Amino acid sequence: MPEADRCEVPATIVIFGASGDLTRRKLVPALHSLACEGRLHPQTHLIGIGRRPFADQELREQLFAGVQDYARLKPHLCALWEDFAVRIAYLQGDYDDPDTYRHLTRRLQEMEQKLGREPYRIFYLAVPPQLFPVIVEHLGQAGLHRGGEHKPRIIIEKPFGHDLQSAQRLSAQVHAVFDESQVFRIDHYLGKETVQNIMVFRFANSIFEPLWNRNYVDHVQITMAEKIGVEHRGAYYDRAGVVRDMFQNHLLQLLTLTAMEPPSAFSAKMLRDEKVKVLQAIRPIPREHGVWGQYEGYRQEPNVDPQSNTPTYLALKVYIDNWRWQGVPFYVRSGKALAAKTTEITLQFHAVPHLLFPESTELGPNRLSLFIQPNEGMLLRFQTKVPGAGMRAEPVDMEFRYGQRYGENILPDAYERLLLDAIQGDASLFARNDEIELAWQLVDPLTDGIEPELYRRGSQGPRSADAFIRRDGREWLPIVSRSGVEAQHND
Ligand code: BG6
Repeated sequence: MPEADRCEVPATIVIFGASGDLTRRKLVPALHSLACEGRLHPQTHLIGIGRRPFADQELREQLFAGVQDYARLKPHLCALWEDFAVRIAYLQGDYDDPDTYRHLTRRLQEMEQKLGREPYRIFYLAVPPQLFPVIVEHLGQAGLHRGGEHKPRIIIEKPFGHDLQSAQRLSAQVHAVFDESQVFRIDHYLGKETVQNIMVFRFANSIFEPLWNRNYVDHVQITMAEKIGVEHRGAYYDRAGVVRDMFQNHLLQLLTLTAMEPPSAFSAKMLRDEKVKVLQAIRPIPREHGVWGQYEGYRQEPNVDPQSNTPTYLALKVYIDNWRWQGVPFYVRSGKALAAKTTEITLQFHAVPHLLFPESTELGPNRLSLFIQPNEGMLLRFQTKVPGAGMRAEPVDMEFRYGQRYGENILPDAYERLLLDAIQGDASLFARNDEIELAWQLVDPLTDGIEPELYRRGSQGPRSADAFIRRDGREWLPIVSRSGVEAQHND
């Protein structure tokens, strides 16, 4: 196994929010799968902090249930749980009580002394965002931001701020304690295999890159559609809405990876510099370039304001003012309670300049689609001659599917990759401060004061979204189910 894929140094991972959903469904299952594959040092320890009174054993049992339900490598596939569980401890405490951090320091010292070497220390904030500043401040007061040979790292979940101003405030609070090299802001989309593959696809092949610009591309569509509604997250979602929940982070990340120039090396700095350049080049988006929607029944969801105008759908037309993309519209959309779960990026190429085959009235454009999830893969659409007399052409697809090539269930969960990278200090797949602020600057004017149009659950979104793209002489690609797996994850 290459060194980058395996951590040679023990780590102590402190999770704030130990009894929460994220820890149970994502973090511990991901750590367990990493441990099963031998990617973590066998002396990796986990301390969970929470407010509820728990014995170590109770927490372990709760986490075990999460591993059984959600881990890629479930306990029956790898007989590691007993060994893994003894290295999990629980610390009860209030996040704003200095005693919590005193106890934590003592626990860390006891644990780490036995190791005989300095481990990597990770603090993971899996708590509601209003608690970020208080935890960071206390970690600083307790001196826990300092290390010997290795500086501790802090992983912060989204949302990083509620708008530009609050993001800047939070940044200042975090930077008062940790320096930027210690801060890892998670966007779980960057941990998805197929999102990383956008870079390999673009920069490890010479055949696509010459086409990847305004000379050949008519427009780009990026769709992040979900079938589920807000479920039990009404209280959070009603304050956030689709712009803060999906656009400010995941969608803009996909856009920057699709549009950026090749970095000269795959390093955290160079990669993030290129993404920042794209964000800087995005033209401010006027409200006329957007359609806001809300699914029918949203206002009756638990913990949602019955008068709420929070959008659950948004479609935008985005322009990037640089040499590569001048004049090429990026139509981007995301919504909940739509016809299917799918995340995809499609480049549609210009039509041929002159049609030689008049029988082929239906001649469609060439398209290149990257299916991020589910049923991950790629598809190139081109025209071919229909066999027989005449010269009639029709579109056909050339497809690559991850599942077929590498086997089903081979793709690691995004958190596996991101946790391993953060433990090893590689920030390439984490958002940098300037990216976050530029993203807020772009979306802030699109967040509030807009009345969304209602759309049917399970539909393609609001009707005006169709009229909106048709005004430009284009059509949305249909939101359709691409896999049976979707039913498991999104119904
Ligand atoms: C989260 C959003 O960041 O991403 C959720 O808060 C959304 O609202 C989720 O459902 C989608 O992630 P995925 O990996 O299921 O596409």
